[in-house]
Amino acid sequence: MPSVASIVARSYPDKIIGIENTLPWHLRTDLQLFKKRTQGHAVIMGRKTFESIGQPLPKRTNIILSRAEPNYLTEFPELRWAPNPETALLLADIDSIISGKMEFFVIGGDQIYQIFEGRINRIFVTDVFCGHINGDAKFETDFDAKTKGKKSEWWIKSEEDFPRSDFDDFPFRVTEYRRRVPFHRYRVKEELMGREPTLDAFWEQYQFRLEAEVSEEQLPLF
Ligand SMILES: NC(=O)c1ccc[n+]([C@@H]2O[C@H](COP(=O)([O-])OP(=O)(O)OC[C@H]3O[C@@H](n4cnc5c(N)ncnc54)[C@H](OP(=O)(O)O)[C@@H]3O)[C@@H](O)[C@H]2O)c1
Repeated sequence: MPSVASIVARSYPDKIIGIENTLPWHLRTDLQLFKKRTQGHAVIMGRKTFESIGQPLPKRTNIILSRAEPNYLTEFPELRWAPNPETALLLADIDSIISGKMEFFVIGGDQIYQIFEGRINRIFVTDVFCGHINGDAKFETDFDAKTKGKKSEWWIKSEEDFPRSDFDDFPFRVTEYRRRVPFHRYRVKEELMGREPTLDAFWEQYQFRLEAEVSEEQLPLF
C-alpha cells in the first residue's frame, strides 16, 4: 500500500503548532515548500484544520476526518469526508493508487497527528525559531529521541536552514526524518479497486456501504 508521509511546522523547542485554530506565524517560504511537497497527493486533515484553512487545498485530494458529516460537502463537492481513521486511510490509498503516487500526507492538526503518528514513514518537520509562544495545539514527538542507548527510530535525510525575511516572521529549519524500519501495510489491490478505477466510482459504492455500517465501528476492510 502507499506509504504515510507527514508534514508539520512547530515552534522550537516547545513543539506548538497552533493557537485558537490558526497558525502562530506567517512563513511564506515554508508554505511554498508545503505546497510543492503535497501537491498531486492526497492529504488527510482534521475537521478543525480544514475549517482553519477554509477551503480545499488545490491540486490535492482533501480528506477530512470528522465524526459527523460536514455541512459544507455540497459547497465543496471535491472534499472527501472520512468518519473514522480507517476510512481516511482507505480513501488515501485508493486515490494514491489511481494517481500513481507512492505516498500521501497527513497534515494535522494535533489530534490527527496523534492518530497516524505510528504509521508515518517520513516527515518534514519545520522547527520555527520563534521562542516561547502560547498555543493550544502541539505535535510532541521527539524524532531525535534515543531509547536505552539505542539509535533513534528516525534518521535524518536532509536538513536546511532558512533566515528570517520580509516574507517569513522567524528563521526556521526544515528537517526530513525517515523511519529506520518503515511501517508497511499490505492489501491486495484488486480487493480495493474492483473494476472501478476512479475515486468517484469507488466513493459512491463505499458511501453506500458506510451508511449500512455502524460508523463508529471498525470497517470490515481493516
Ligand atoms: N503547524 C502546523 O503544521 C499545523 C498543521 C495543521 C494544523 N495546525 C493547527 O492545529 C490546530 C488544529 O488541531 P486540533 O487538534 O485542534 O484539530 P484537528 O486535528 O485539525 O481536527 C480535530 C477534529 O478531527 C476530527 N477527529 C478527530 N479524531 C477523529 C476520529 N477518530 N474519527 C473521526 N474524526 C476525528 C474531529 O472532528 P469533529 O469534531 O467534527 O468530529 C475533531 O474535532 C489549529 O490551530 C491548526 O492551525 C497546525
